[in-house]
Amino acid sequence: MTTRIIGTGSYLPENIVSNNDLSKVMDTSDEWIVSRTGIRERRLATTETTASMAIKASEKALLAANKKADEIDLIIVGTITNDYVTPSTACEIQAGISADKAVCFDINAACSGFVFALQIAHAYLQTGMYQNALVLGVETLSKLMDWNDRSTCVLFGDGAGACVVEKSDVGIYGFDLGSDGKKGVALSCENRRNNNPYVEHSKDLGYVRMEGQEVYKFAVTTVPESILKVLGKHSVDPSEITYFVLHQANVRIIQSVAKRLQVSEDKFPMNLDHCGNISAGSIPILLDEMNQKGMLKKGDKIIFSGFGGGLTWGTCLLEW
Ligand code: ACO
Repeated sequence: MTTRIIGTGSYLPENIVSNNDLSKVMDTSDEWIVSRTGIRERRLATTETTASMAIKASEKALLAANKKADEIDLIIVGTITNDYVTPSTACEIQAGISADKAVCFDINAACSGFVFALQIAHAYLQTGMYQNALVLGVETLSKLMDWNDRSTCVLFGDGAGACVVEKSDVGIYGFDLGSDGKKGVALSCENRRNNNPYVEHSKDLGYVRMEGQEVYKFAVTTVPESILKVLGKHSVDPSEITYFVLHQANVRIIQSVAKRLQVSEDKFPMNLDHCGNISAGSIPILLDEMNQKGMLKKGDKIIFSGFGGGLTWGTCLLEW
């Protein structure tokens, strides 16, 4: 017995912001952003929230899976941009879709969040404790950006991706997950500071800070290693994989991974041109876009690989 994805859904905010739009409000250019990242535009939430996007993506995934919300046992959300510290985004989704019997919680593994959440769901399902789960990656990263720091704010976007999973004979083969907390400083965002009466007050807000080249080096070495590890464990050759669905951070990272694995770039679908980097949201949103286009065929072997803040990384090998 394993776990299979039986429905996908996604939602992107309505507000489209092109590189040229950004160049009107900060010192940047379409040429700089496209040549270094592959990003041409992103969606930035104005009326949407993390939960409202997640609810829309969940409704679509449930419809695709032909499941009713009240049949869902578990809701797990990978996010670093919850609307509230509590309730969790998962609980907000539960309320929004009336998944009344579900157990709901969020996990924080930054850009690896969806793959971590999927492994947790898989592990629960394998114990027999639950029969199905709604697994999401969702972010409103635009609220964590320092809009005076052009080296980070141009990279990110907002959106939500959701999958319904259930127990099945075919599906997930296995995972390789890892963390390196000692390198956490390479990509960080400080939370609200302590403001109790006994500490000096500070009004500084936390923003995403990134040592871009450190993150780049980490990604281009760790991701291929992790992919080869999980493939080796299940005796699958990289040439047998139909699609490598990677976290959408940067086109150059994806090209470098393809080169290291000696696999054609055509097997690495991308949506960062119109989405930017949506952290935990990027893999499930891309997966849903591929699904909508009819790209996923029964029996296809697929890799998901996420990497990012923590630092964290996570790879999943599955059969569609
Ligand atoms: N527009 C124009 N110029 C800019 C911008 C901008 N938006 N941002 C930075 N610059 C300038 C810098 O000020 C610098 O100018 P200087 O040479 O006069 O000082 C110059 O461009 C080069 O800056 P670098 O930071 O060295 O640019 P680099 O070539 O390293 O590219 C990038 C930056 C794209 C972030 C790169 O480091 C990278 O690909 N990093 C990988 C990490 C990544 O993609 N992270 C995404 C999020 S993390 C994750 O999801 C895992």
